[in-house]
Amino acid sequence: MKKTDILARFPPRMENLLLILNDLQNQSRMNCLSKKDLTRVAKYLNTTLSTIYGVASYYSMFSLTPRGRHIIRMCRSPVCHCAGVSDMFDELTRLLKIEVGATTPDRLFTLETAECLGQCDLAPAMMIDDVAYGNLTAASLATIIGRYRNKSASQGD
Ligand code: FES
Repeated sequence: MKKTDILARFPPRMENLLLILNDLQNQSRMNCLSKKDLTRVAKYLNTTLSTIYGVASYYSMFSLTPRGRHIIRMCRSPVCHCAGVSDMFDELTRLLKIEVGATTPDRLFTLETAECLGQCDLAPAMMIDDVAYGNLTAASLATIIGRYRNKSASQGD
């Protein structure tokens, strides 16, 4: 879908800003918002680039720098912390060979932290894109990451 088509799906009102930014980012191969995106949105909503930039940079769900195809958000809030999420961080950085905030060289994953994901009963928990994973163990992490890697490989990426 072209970016102009994304804009056209929403009436040009500020109340639609987050939805527009979200759809534009989802459409991005780099999983981020470019300056061109922000400029286009500012023009569409008849506001300033700095206003749009302020919103896009405020919310952690938006990125202004290129990221991997899949965003892993590991919960760092108290319940997950008590359930051993630190060990899961260690395991994940070992599996991906990157630190928090980084993107794998194949651009498949970006590893981020998050506040409570609303999955406390499944702590320790994480999300990959829109999918939640809980009761994480070293073994389940390896299985989950392997699944994404295999899917990517089968698609010839
Ligand atoms: S504290 Fe981790 S999901 Fe709620």
